[in-house]
Amino acid sequence: MTDQELHTRLDQIKQEINYHNYRYHVLDSPVISDYEYDKLVKELKDIESAHPDWVTPDSPTQRAGAAPLDKFVKVRHPGPILSLANAFTGGDVFAWFERVSRLDERVRSTGFVVEPKIDGLTVVLHYHDGIFVQGATRGDGVIGEDITANLKTVRALPLKIPIESKGPKPPAEIVVRGEAFINIRDFEKLNQRLEEAGESTYQNPRNTAAGSLRQLDPGLTATRPLTILVYAIVSASGNTPATQKERLQYLHSLGFPVPEAHFCKTIDETINAYNQISEKRDQLAYEADGAVIKINDLTLAEGLGVVGKDPRGAIAYKFQAREVTTGLLDIGVNVGRTGVITPYAILEAVEVGGVVVRQATLHNFDYIRDKDIRIGDRVALIRAGDVIPYVIGPIVDLRTGQEQTYEPPTNCPTCGQTVEHFAGEVAWFCVNTSCPAQLIRNLEHFASRGAMDIVGLGIKIVEQLVAANLVKDVADIYSLSEKQLLTLEGFASKKAENLLSSIEASKNRPLSRLINALGIRGVGEVMAVELAHHFEDLDQLSCATITDLEKIQGVGPNIAVAIVDWFKREPNTRVLEKLRQADVWPIEKPVSPQTSDKMRLSELTFVITGTLPGVTRDELKDIIQENGGKVSDSISNNTSYLLVGEQPGSKLDKARKLGVPIIGLDDLKKLIAK
Ligand code: IVH
Repeated sequence: MTDQELHTRLDQIKQEINYHNYRYHVLDSPVISDYEYDKLVKELKDIESAHPDWVTPDSPTQRAGAAPLDKFVKVRHPGPILSLANAFTGGDVFAWFERVSRLDERVRSTGFVVEPKIDGLTVVLHYHDGIFVQGATRGDGVIGEDITANLKTVRALPLKIPIESKGPKPPAEIVVRGEAFINIRDFEKLNQRLEEAGESTYQNPRNTAAGSLRQLDPGLTATRPLTILVYAIVSASGNTPATQKERLQYLHSLGFPVPEAHFCKTIDETINAYNQISEKRDQLAYEADGAVIKINDLTLAEGLGVVGKDPRGAIAYKFQAREVTTGLLDIGVNVGRTGVITPYAILEAVEVGGVVVRQATLHNFDYIRDKDIRIGDRVALIRAGDVIPYVIGPIVDLRTGQEQTYEPPTNCPTCGQTVEHFAGEVAWFCVNTSCPAQLIRNLEHFASRGAMDIVGLGIKIVEQLVAANLVKDVADIYSLSEKQLLTLEGFASKKAENLLSSIEASKNRPLSRLINALGIRGVGEVMAVELAHHFEDLDQLSCATITDLEKIQGVGPNIAVAIVDWFKREPNTRVLEKLRQADVWPIEKPVSPQTSDKMRLSELTFVITGTLPGVTRDELKDIIQENGGKVSDSISNNTSYLLVGEQPGSKLDKARKLGVPIIGLDDLKKLIAK
C-alpha cells in the first residue's frame, strides 16, 4: 500500500470504529462482533504506531490514555450555562404557565417538550468542524473546568459528528449541553466488583459520576462506566432548528444520544407526560429527579428572558422527595455469609416516597467514622429507586450534645469471636465459620439453587436446624437423620423424608457447584466454574498457591488470598473432611489449556428464557458451563445467544431488538457437538 492508500484506509477505519462504537454505546444495537471490532482497533493501532504524526483527536485510540493533569484549566463558556427554576406541584406548573403566557400570549399555542431530568452533571461540549475539541463542567455557569481528556473516555460521546456519513453537516462551530451520569445497573455492577474485591463501595451514581469526571488522571475515569445524554445547543455558527422537538431530532441525527422526550400541545398534556415519567421512574436506566418542561419554540422561550440564573422558558418539575430526615435510634450489626460485619441504622420510622423505612444501610464502619455519625443524631436518609435506603449523614446543627459516638464491635455480636480486619480492606470479618449468624447464611447459600440446589432447605428450616443445634457447619446436613428432623416444629415423616432425599440428591452436583457452595469470599458461580476447569477436586484446589491461582482468568490477588486463606482455616478443613466422608466429593477431569481453547462454548454467553422440555434451568446452566460457556440473567450486547423455550418472557423482545441470535435446544446441542 502507498502512504496515500494507507492514509485513506486509516480514515476509513476511524470512521468505522466510531460508527460501531455509536451502535454499541448509543443505539444499544451492535452490528459486528466484539472480535471484529477488536480487529479493527488493532489495525488502527498498527497504522498509528507506524505513523504517529497521523494520530488525530477524533481517533478512537485517543479516548483513553492521556497523561494525568496537575490541575484543571478554567474555561469560559460561550454563553451563560443557565440553571432551572423548580416546580413541586401541578399548581406550581400551572402558575408558571399563566405567568409566562401573560408575558407572551403565543406560549398558549406553541406546545411543550417534556424530558426526564437526569440526575448527573452538566457538561458543555465544543465541536470544531465536527471534531470534539473541548468539554467542560458547568462551574458557576460562566466559567467551568476543562475536562476534555476525561470526557473523551465516555464512549457514548461522539468524537466526530456526524457519526453516520448520511447525517447532516454540522456548523463549523457548535457547542452542545448535556448530562454525564452512570446508569443504575452499571453502578450496581461496579459496586459488586468492589465489594467482591473487599474494597469500599460508592454511595450513589451521581457522586460517583461527579468524582469520576473530576479525576486528574483520565486513566481512572476510563475505568468508570460513565455515559451521557445531550439535550441542548448552547451556541452554533450556523443555523440550527428553532424548536426543542426538532433540535433533539437534529442532535440525534448528528450522533448524540438524546433523552426520550414527550411532545405536548397543551399544559394539561405536559402534566400527563410528567405523571407518565414519574410512574416509570424506577424503570428508567438512570436516576432522574424530575421532568424538565420546555417551551417548544426556542426563540419565543429565549425572548421571555431570565430571572437570576433561571430561564423563564423552561421549568424543572421535581419528583416527590426521596430524601428525608429522621432520628438515629441505634446502630446494629449484621453478620453476612462470608463473615463480613456490616453496620446498619435503626431509625425512627419515617415515610420516604410512599414506603415506611425503619432501617437503612451505613455501608461500613469507616463510613460512620468519616461522616461522624452518632447515635441520637438526626440524620438525612435517601431511598432512590430499588436501591436500599442509606444514611447520607448527620444534621450537625440539630445536635443537642446528648449524642453518643459509636465504637465498632471488637467481637462478633453473635458468637463472640474477635473480629478481624485485613490490611487495605474496609470490611471487618468474623472468621468463625461456625458462628450461628454466619452459619445460617452459609447454609442458606450452600443449599441455594446456584450451589447445591437442595430443594426444601430454605431459610426457615435452616434457622430451625441451627437453633436446635442439629448442624454446627454446612457438612452436618449430610448426617441428619429422620429422627432428628422429626423433633423440629412442623416436621412430619413425609416432610423429613423429602428433605433427606433432596440432601442425598445434592451429593451428585458437579464440582463447580460445590466450590460455589463453600462460600469463599469473592468466589461466585462464574468463578467457581473457572476454578473447576483447573482443578480435579477440592484436594487439588486446597493445595493451590496464590501464584497458581493468580494465573487463572478473573482471579485477582484478593481472591487468590481469600481462597488460600479459606483452605488454611481449621474449621474449614473439618468441613472438607466431613464432606469427603459423606461422599460429597465430585472428581472431574480438569480442562487442559488446549481443550479449554477448543471447548465448544468458550467465549460464549447464553441467556435462557421460557421452559425447555425435559431439562431444568439448572441442568442447562451446568451443561453450558461444563462446555466452557457462561450463563447470564439478562440480555445485553455481550449476549452471544438467547436460548428460547416454551412461553418465553420479555427477554425475547429485547434479544430481537438488540439483534442477539435466538436458538432452541437442538441448536445448543449442535453447538456443543460441532
Ligand atoms: S435543560 C436552560 N434538560 O438540571 C436549560 N436540564 O436543575 C437548562 N438537567 O443544570 C437545562 N436533565 O444539569 C435540561 N433534560 C434536561 C435535563 C437538565 C438534567 C439538569 C441540568 C441543569 C439542572 C437544572
